[in-house]
Amino acid sequence: MPPLSAAAQAILAATARRDLPTPSDAAQMPVTRALFDEVMVPCFAPAPFVPVRGEGSRVWDQDGRMYIDFGSGVAVTALGHCHPAMVKAINEQASRLWHVSNWFTNEPALRLAKRLTDTTFAERVFFCNSGAEANEAALKLARRYAHDRFGAHKLRVVSTQNAFHGRTLFTVTAGGQEKYASGFGPNPAGFVHLPYNDVAALEAEFAAHGPDICAVILEPMQGEGGMRPGTPEYLQAARRLCTAHGALLILDEIQSGMGRTGALFSYMQKGVVPDILTSAKGLGGGFPIGAMLTTGEVARAFSVGVHGTTYGGNPLACAVAGAVFDVINTTEVLEGVKARHALFIEGLKAINVRRRVFADLRGEGVWIGCELDAAWRGKAMDVVKAAGECGLLLLVAGPDVVRIAPSLVISLDEILEGLARLEQALLRALA
Ligand SMILES: Cc1ncc(COP(=O)(O)O)c(C=O)c1O
Repeated sequence: MPPLSAAAQAILAATARRDLPTPSDAAQMPVTRALFDEVMVPCFAPAPFVPVRGEGSRVWDQDGRMYIDFGSGVAVTALGHCHPAMVKAINEQASRLWHVSNWFTNEPALRLAKRLTDTTFAERVFFCNSGAEANEAALKLARRYAHDRFGAHKLRVVSTQNAFHGRTLFTVTAGGQEKYASGFGPNPAGFVHLPYNDVAALEAEFAAHGPDICAVILEPMQGEGGMRPGTPEYLQAARRLCTAHGALLILDEIQSGMGRTGALFSYMQKGVVPDILTSAKGLGGGFPIGAMLTTGEVARAFSVGVHGTTYGGNPLACAVAGAVFDVINTTEVLEGVKARHALFIEGLKAINVRRRVFADLRGEGVWIGCELDAAWRGKAMDVVKAAGECGLLLLVAGPDVVRIAPSLVISLDEILEGLARLEQALLRALA
């Protein structure tokens, strides 16, 4: 190597130093909600306030106003905000190793995969960064498995009306909702969408197209599509038909998984075992991570180089997810989810006796849909906006359903305070 000039040596030494002050104070720049409309792509319309801090199921905005969190992001912060086990895990990992690429494996990823395979049907895990990416991997794997095993004709994917599987082109096509999937064409071919919970429609589809079907993809309970629990008979029929026709059953547990329904994964209480399961959201409890779980045999269709992602299995994400997993996968927390379900339903029924606003209350665990009465059709978003004004973070599931998806460990006080605020919001929005 030629000798370096003194100037070059000085610049190398200066830029390799780790003790220099932060070069700009941009991190402290004052910002407001208005800036969103100036600098962000307008595909979201966030609330008028900006959350800055969270603890448990309480969140504070820039003005110091406190909100009870009945949404946990969108069913993401399963242990609430800044859970000590998660803070400890991220701090420890942050000073150890952040990223190494998939040319190496790493300890937190291996530990998390071992936990997931020890506790589920799965023998193999693929890590990625989001729910859509997990479903993208699942659909690609199902197509590739069928292609290699049965031939190129077996590519048909059976999905359901009102499904939601993510926002990539493959997964919006799987979801099949016009409002998300149109205008991007040509969309991937080979999808069919049947009515949810309709065993006869599924049987007719397999009778007509069985040899060409590579996969059925289902949410065990439709979340975004209106909080509709799948019946055990329906999910079991899908399992039976897939097995009979050499198709794979993909269960999308991105929202239903990681304890939200009172079981580690929802399939465990529906009497059905999938070939592929996807997880995200609660898996990282707020740190972005997704996972696709499958059997050893199916996993073989993804041989080296067939699929991949830069950040999948990131040590920080896996360290946090490992801590989340250990807290959730206990009898206390899972039983606590069921106890909280009963409390929510009791409180919501009491509101309904006083206000007559709900036509139906449904759901599982801490994942509850409140369908508005016919008189208030289409007003779910108005309720969510009013909730923000009353100090409550809430969700919709379509135009007619208010969705409650709090932390799995929300306290009794927070539930009662949140329900009181919900009643105020209903009065305000539906007056
Ligand atoms: C059932 C289901 N699948 C997939 C997704 C997509 O996940 P992500 O937004 O992390 O890509 C969601 C998100 O709401 C979901 O609820």
